[in-house]
Amino acid sequence: MVTRRRFLGFSGVGLLAISTGCHPPDLQQSVYGADVSDDALQQKARLKRLKNRLLGYPVNMNTPSEDFFAWRKELFEAGIDAFAFNNVGNPFKESPIPYNTHEFERETIREFGKLFAFPADDTWGFLSHSGTDSNMHGMYMGRTLLKGRTGLLPKAYFTHESHYSVQILRDLLGLDVVMVETLPDGGMDPNDLADKLAENANVPALVVATVGTTFKGAIDNIDRIQEKLRSHASYLHVDAALFGGYLPFTPHAAEVSYRTSDNAVSGRYDSIAVSCHKFFGFPSPAGLFITKRSLYNEFNALFSKIHNPEYIHHVPGTITCSRDAVKPAEFYHFTTPSAQARQVKDAQLMLKNTAYLLAQMLTHFPELSATRANRLSNTVYFRNPGGAIVKKYSLATMHIDIDNKPEDFAHVVVMPHVSREVLTEFLTDLENSQSQ
Ligand SMILES: Cc1ncc(COP(=O)(O)O)c(C=O)c1O
Repeated sequence: MVTRRRFLGFSGVGLLAISTGCHPPDLQQSVYGADVSDDALQQKARLKRLKNRLLGYPVNMNTPSEDFFAWRKELFEAGIDAFAFNNVGNPFKESPIPYNTHEFERETIREFGKLFAFPADDTWGFLSHSGTDSNMHGMYMGRTLLKGRTGLLPKAYFTHESHYSVQILRDLLGLDVVMVETLPDGGMDPNDLADKLAENANVPALVVATVGTTFKGAIDNIDRIQEKLRSHASYLHVDAALFGGYLPFTPHAAEVSYRTSDNAVSGRYDSIAVSCHKFFGFPSPAGLFITKRSLYNEFNALFSKIHNPEYIHHVPGTITCSRDAVKPAEFYHFTTPSAQARQVKDAQLMLKNTAYLLAQMLTHFPELSATRANRLSNTVYFRNPGGAIVKKYSLATMHIDIDNKPEDFAHVVVMPHVSREVLTEFLTDLENSQSQ
């Protein structure tokens, strides 16, 4: 156990000496000016050395394995990311433009579909631009299906702990909101949901449940939510942007599984969104969107009424026309056995280090009221320890109501790069700042 004064010292980070000749030759004397490119690159190289100190946001800052970069090179040699590929359209349909990576996209969706226990012969999805983009497709699909089935626009149900994109998306989709109360841990209160459904008995419900809320790491209980939705026209989209990445590799996989314990055909939810750059550490933003193919077909029949498929020879089923072809091909690497073995290790380590951080904070800084919403969470939130720590570790901060009074909190999201060494440096800094 680490006690006061016994946190290991963590050596200061030296600045990288950078040669100014490392940028493309035509940038050196370009309209941007040599100074700008030199400064920008030097700053990026400095930041690269500090990347493991990013503790406040759910991004895996580890560099992917050498295999990933070898795969990237192979793709480049085949022309992918060397000229204009485009994944426009439904990846499960033939495209009029052969310069796409639909086969990798399909395989990625099939593999992740298996991880989330979707029926093997009834899985559909695509690689989106981000978790937000996947949420957009889930909410749009729910809106379209519910309107098609009932003739009525649904109301959107979620909690104030949902990611802010959900609020934006319901605005974009022109849906009225029904804000559901939360339980003390930050998860959706199923009884309040039942009351709100009863108040809106004749209006379909588009429910967005979050498995791993952004600030507290709380879990909306999908099974209890489904219980309440049983006699109501509804669609349940699960936003598992962060937790959906790692839970399938832990003993808690059932939490994000499509399959119910009795293998009911209807499943536990209708669609799920996961970010690729969060747990997996994919180097740029992307998202998984997965649903059932039969549900997608029903959606597509409605979608085709508002979309003329003539131009691309089929109904795309996606909101955006052009879609990135490079990312699905690159992200395919994360379905390989070696990548998955790393994901299992990363997931275990994250949960272990989260437990360690919580224990240390409770022991040494009880005044900060550190909290972990549940044992599946990799997030520890606590009273804001002050500007210097917040700045050094890029901590996210938020006000949380305590006894109806807003108080300032911060959190650490223990991602795979957040090693014991990094945590020790953080705890040492915290100790120094608290004793000042
Ligand atoms: C619960 C949740 N949903 C959605 C998002 C947005 O995901 P993305 O950044 O991939 O758009 C986040 C981001 O932190 C999140 O925590």
